Amino acid sequence: MNLKPETIHKIDTLVPRYPTMRSAALPLCHLVQEDQGYLSHEAIEWIAARLELQPINIQELVTFYPMLRTEPTGEYHVRVCRTLPCALAGAYQTCRSFEEAFDCKVGHTSADGKVTLEFVECHADCGKAPVVMVGETEYTDIDAEKAAEMAAKMKTGELPTGLEA
Ligand code: FES
Repeated sequence: MNLKPETIHKIDTLVPRYPTMRSAALPLCHLVQEDQGYLSHEAIEWIAARLELQPINIQELVTFYPMLRTEPTGEYHVRVCRTLPCALAGAYQTCRSFEEAFDCKVGHTSADGKVTLEFVECHADCGKAPVVMVGETEYTDIDAEKAAEMAAKMKTGELPTGLEA
């Protein structure tokens, strides 16, 4: 697998810090995901081999933690906060609105590669719930209706991806 040299360096520094190699599994998943954008089957096998574990040990983590992705990230990376204040303000309806617009379940990338939809925890802007991140850009007070408007703009490319420098 083609990891960046800096990622390899981070991994080599990190692994010996843990009392058992198994404890380094989650941090390694994050590092490899950061490097590759997602955790492919090959990446899962690589992590397992690096930690002298079985691929199933890594697969279990990937299945359990929603922030670990097994599909390439779409053009738009949409993260909906679902912590209590946002949930009470309608974050689940917001998310459903994105799901319907892109025919894509949360935790997945749409078939056209346009969007990856995820739930995340508190963005520390709870007073303006529901909060949605698109790339690194925060959008606040996003109810289901506003989510539908955002989705329409994503489809036409009018909405910035939030990844611009
Ligand atoms: S609960 Fe959503 S921003 Fe804090």
